[in-house]
Amino acid sequence: MSTASIHPSEQDTELQRRKQETLQLLTAGNPAGIHKGFFLSGIAIILTFGAVWGAYLLLRIAMEGSFTSVGIHEVNAHGHAQIFGWVGLFVMGFAYLMFPRFKQTALSWPAGAKLSLVLMLIGIILRSALEPFAQTAPWTVWGALFGNGLELIAIGIFLHQMVGLMRRSVQEINGSDVLILSALGWFAVQAVYETVYFAAIAWAPTREAMLHLVATWQAPLRDAQIHGFSMLIIFGVSLRILPAFFGWRTPPAGAGKWLAVVLSAAVLVQIVSFILMREVGYRWGALWAVAAVVLLVGALWQVKTLGVFGPAGLHNRSVKYVRTAYAWLLLSLVMLVSLPVWQFGILPRLAPEGGAVEIGFSHAYYGSIRHAITVGFISLMIMGVGAFVAAETRWGKNLPKLPALWLPFILVNIGCAMRVFFQLTTDIGAWAFPITGVSGILEVTGIAIWGGHMAKVMLGR
Ligand code: HEM
Repeated sequence: MSTASIHPSEQDTELQRRKQETLQLLTAGNPAGIHKGFFLSGIAIILTFGAVWGAYLLLRIAMEGSFTSVGIHEVNAHGHAQIFGWVGLFVMGFAYLMFPRFKQTALSWPAGAKLSLVLMLIGIILRSALEPFAQTAPWTVWGALFGNGLELIAIGIFLHQMVGLMRRSVQEINGSDVLILSALGWFAVQAVYETVYFAAIAWAPTREAMLHLVATWQAPLRDAQIHGFSMLIIFGVSLRILPAFFGWRTPPAGAGKWLAVVLSAAVLVQIVSFILMREVGYRWGALWAVAAVVLLVGALWQVKTLGVFGPAGLHNRSVKYVRTAYAWLLLSLVMLVSLPVWQFGILPRLAPEGGAVEIGFSHAYYGSIRHAITVGFISLMIMGVGAFVAAETRWGKNLPKLPALWLPFILVNIGCAMRVFFQLTTDIGAWAFPITGVSGILEVTGIAIWGGHMAKVMLGR
């Protein structure tokens, strides 16, 4: 029901009803604290192998004035920690807590949730800690792959439980469920892809063979992880919870079904057309561009359906995080659609002698697009929804007055804006490198303040 079309008193009652529904979702049922271990582990990973390691790499890049001054395995160890340890652990913790409530049925094996956390955590630590040494100490590849194996088992246990919930539930499968199931499918695909891809580049017979593999297969892996898994799970969960959490528009039950199909198809086309572009010919780039436009249109549909930038009936500190996250998503997708304009229209005029024009690919611009979506969209979303869930599950209707979390919000946004803008500017002038380098410190500080608050909320008095 749209809150705009009803009488003010009815609107209040409707909002009260939603508030009750939220409380019930967050506090009823078992096991109540299942998310805590996942959330705390996710925070520990981002503050070590994830953002902290990423900020260190960025400082080295800034000092050398080149994005290729850090090794591929050093960058990929960071990417792995972020996708599996930050996004993956938060998604798993949230899903173990909330999906049984969404589907009004219990987990078939609650102890399996704990087992999947332990396996996932050991796997992430092994892979992220060992991968940077893959070239200098080849035996570490075996240890890192063992870590991947543990992650695959953990993800298998998790997916088995989630699909079981959907199967046993007497509720009909709605649009949000279809988006969530599609995202979980991408979670599985990217986990297998990442393992095979890591083994392939670690054991490539020559440096040329390794570079060819990276140039062809790494971008499609990121599409599966970022647009397939992360974006779709956020869309599905948003449709289900945000009307209840923030009093936004309630979408019709079927909303999201076609979106899941269209967006999954667009991600698949993005992946296949990129590989064809590399292996067959640049004409396949046209299909890639169509897929990018479809992703943007899908995101606009999502924003409109939820009324993300309209009034929020229920106010709390997380609204600003989620709204800004969606703004970053739109910016990232607009930049993605405009990639050919930057590469073939703007760059040749502004930096005709630059390396990006010479090789026909701007690493800096591509990295900016990715950072806008990984930090701007995905991370702000995790921070906003994570803070809401952690506080409400702990205190329910006795929620004390909590800090508004403005400082982490401002630091992460300023850091992200600096990184996105100045990273692409490095194509035009090397003076932009030092400013890009500093951005990581702001982001890490913001995430650390938020992480400290989360730990206090979940563990403290
Ligand atoms: C919060 C602070 C962060 C910092 C300082 C940081 C830093 C970096 C740096 C320096 C690179 C290599 C340079 C480049 O390719 O542009 C990189 C790549 C990457 N980052 Fe981050 N990052 C951060 C957050 C995140 C988050 C939250 C995610 C995921 C949710 C993420 C995922 C990735 C991935 C997947 C790559 C590899 C990209 C590729 O395929 O080349 N990063 N990051």
